[in-house]
Amino acid sequence: MTIKGRFDRFTRQIRPTEDHIDEANRQVKYMIERLHDKVAEDGSFVLEKTLRAGSNAKFTSLRKTAENRFDVDLGAYYSGEGATKERLDTLLDFTRAKLIEIYPQKEKEDFIKLQSAVRVRFTSGIKLWVDVAPIVRDDSLGITNGGHIPRDDGWRLTSVTAHNDFIAKRTEESKKVSGPVRFNRLVRLVKWWNNLQGPLLQPAIFCELITAAAVRDTGVTPEWQTSLRQVFTFLRKHGLKEPIVFNDYYDPKKVQTATGTAVVIDSVNPKNNVTALWTNQTREEFLERVQDAYDATVAAWSAERDGDEDEAVEHWCEVFGPAFRTLSEEE
Ligand SMILES: Nc1ncnc2c1ncn2[C@@H]1O[C@H](COP(=O)(O)OP(=O)(O)OP(=O)(O)O)[C@@H](O)[C@H]1O
Ligand SMILES: [Mg+2]
Repeated sequence: MTIKGRFDRFTRQIRPTEDHIDEANRQVKYMIERLHDKVAEDGSFVLEKTLRAGSNAKFTSLRKTAENRFDVDLGAYYSGEGATKERLDTLLDFTRAKLIEIYPQKEKEDFIKLQSAVRVRFTSGIKLWVDVAPIVRDDSLGITNGGHIPRDDGWRLTSVTAHNDFIAKRTEESKKVSGPVRFNRLVRLVKWWNNLQGPLLQPAIFCELITAAAVRDTGVTPEWQTSLRQVFTFLRKHGLKEPIVFNDYYDPKKVQTATGTAVVIDSVNPKNNVTALWTNQTREEFLERVQDAYDATVAAWSAERDGDEDEAVEHWCEVFGPAFRTLSEEE
């Protein structure tokens, strides 16, 4: 099989199956409908809407593996009296209580209160995990569904809906280039690589933003091999020494943007730096990983050009792990 053929299979294999997605959507739809009824009945809080968030909504989710759980993110968009950041704990407890009411037959331990969300763990069928994060409505960004979402390290004023649109817009744009490369699929590949980086593992939003920055610079090509190489080339040259920032929702020249050792800024909120915790050491180590990946893409390209498919596969396995071989094998 050619490397091109292998990438066709690999990119299909690393995403959840259609059946998986359909089943997840069915379960989530049921949950959302019931949650609205339960909250309305109770009357303590106003649940304006439930937002579909995260990789499922962006078509960037990865199939379930040891490094990656297949989960669905929902945002419970609360507004009005009592729905404040100070009351996160109450909102989490409240959301959890309502979710328990929806599934009275489920064990209580399958409703886990995390720091930033309530996780509902389904143990049968596709064994889905649904993370329901309370979002406290805040219109100050002037963007659809803006609000404060809790993350493990504090609140972020942002919009999960705008994040979905950020990806969708770029995926549409990438369709103008012939060939298989689509922005969302490229993000999947970058996330797959990222998942193998151990202590340097970065959140998905980081993968999206760096991929978007690379694509803004050089676009996508008609094939995976060169598109991927361009992502690593971009990172290598850029070195995360300058801020990575976008003008989709604000003019970076006109607003005050976050500062830090490395600056990769939320496309929605210029004050939200997703690499706020990076040190110089993080950057150095990250760039070493980038260099390794870049070298592997170059070696893979040269092997492919010489017609040595086996060696090319070896090199792609340096980027994506042994799964590149197994998941790209013909059935
Ligand atoms: N640091 C952050 N700042 C702003 N918004 C964030 C941040 N982290 C996550 N989010 C929002 O929360 C959503 C869910 O986050 P999550 O980390 O689960 O990403 P994901 O795209 O679902 O990736 P994964 O497939 O790894 O779950 C994101 O789509 C984004 O809208
Ligand atoms: Mg997620």
